[in-house]
Amino acid sequence: MTTTRTAPQDDHPTTADQQPAPFLELSPSGEPIPVVSSLDLERDPHGLFRQWRSKSPVIQREDGACLVLRADDVERLLNDPRTQQIDGALYARMRGVPPGPLFDLLATSVLLSEGEAHRRRRAPLSRTFAFRAIESLRDTVRTAAEGLIDGFEADGAADLVQAFCAPLPPLVMSQLLGAPASDAQEFARAVYKVSPAFAPALPGEDMDRMVDGARWLTDYVKARLADAASGQTPPAALLEDMLAAIGAGDLTEAEAAVQIVTLIIGASDTTRGALAVQVSLLAERGADWSDYGDNPELARAAVAEALRFEPPVGSFPRFSTEAITLDGMVIPAGYLVSLSTLSAMRDPARFQDPDTFLINRQDHVRWHMAFGAGVHRCIGEALARLELEEGLMALCRKLPGLRLAGPPVKVEGYAGIRRIGQLQVTW
Ligand code: HEM
Repeated sequence: MTTTRTAPQDDHPTTADQQPAPFLELSPSGEPIPVVSSLDLERDPHGLFRQWRSKSPVIQREDGACLVLRADDVERLLNDPRTQQIDGALYARMRGVPPGPLFDLLATSVLLSEGEAHRRRRAPLSRTFAFRAIESLRDTVRTAAEGLIDGFEADGAADLVQAFCAPLPPLVMSQLLGAPASDAQEFARAVYKVSPAFAPALPGEDMDRMVDGARWLTDYVKARLADAASGQTPPAALLEDMLAAIGAGDLTEAEAAVQIVTLIIGASDTTRGALAVQVSLLAERGADWSDYGDNPELARAAVAEALRFEPPVGSFPRFSTEAITLDGMVIPAGYLVSLSTLSAMRDPARFQDPDTFLINRQDHVRWHMAFGAGVHRCIGEALARLELEEGLMALCRKLPGLRLAGPPVKVEGYAGIRRIGQLQVTW
């Protein structure tokens, strides 16, 4: 069966051409799946997941989407051929994106591709973002983080999200493209104009602004690719790998530009949120910053635990291509399946005392679930970790008296990329 459905939170439609099945049809041969309201999910996702996880492997939102709650199931289904990534072109149409640069971005992005197209689009990126290649950027990232702090250090107080967490990821990405420092601000502005297109839709969102950002970034990346192809300046590694893929006939120029724009956007809201959350969680607990400044091991542990405790991406939307049975409950084919990492990473079957933020916990695994699993696992994990570690250590070294000057950062949303508010700090 195929269905057409929109889901306000995951905001990815299922592929399809028929009307949705009424959700009472769900789990026809198994236990009925409990239904929860999106309002309750928004209000207190951790509380709601805690309440249901032990009783039911899956809950259903009133619009029909099925939220999978347990760590083992989430991980297994990310690698299961019965779940499929959402189709980018359909997603763009369902979201009302007009033909043009934003539509093309969503329709041909590696994130929203499957099968052969996905493999082709991902291959050149995997080379550039391999852990070993990224490690060589540590000094570059440290200098970028310290440079940003130099710009506001004398103020004695700031909204850390605006001053540091938001500008750092686009700054690093613009440097990976070999862009001049003078472009950094406009580059960052364009990134945050378009990035909401990859996050759950919000009422009253500004489509023109997203289209504008997509156009600016696509043109910018195409210009960088053209410069690199002309051979006038030695191309940055990322561009070199993309030019090789174009030369080999693996990607068209337009496809290559879209993948680079996807990287830039994939790197922005996620890392921004994680940077703010980790500082906020540590500051709230009265962390002694002098412990962190030059201790990469401790910084690494804090980063991993903050990503578990409040992940920047709350769930991965997929589409069920066949019926899936979980502990006696059946999700039929043709449904939006939201694989909830937010719930999975607080599953007591996986993590001891999961609702406590414990930097020295021993139950983290090498492949952190915050970055997904399976063929779509985050390409930028190494870079994200590097930015999070170096960003944290730079703040601790340069602003050792840093403390909260307002409430801890507010993280909202339970699915897709989550939203963060301000983080007022002083030092
Ligand atoms: C803390 C920061 C980050 C988090 C939590 C994060 C999380 C994720 C997750 C969960 C996915 C998989 C989505 C799915 O399966 O549907 C993903 C995919 C992706 N991420 Fe990240 N990400 C982060 C940073 C980055 C950075 C820095 C980059 C780029 C340099 C990046 C680029 C991508 C790309 C291109 C994909 C699509 C991969 C594919 O579909 O094959 N991400 N990310």
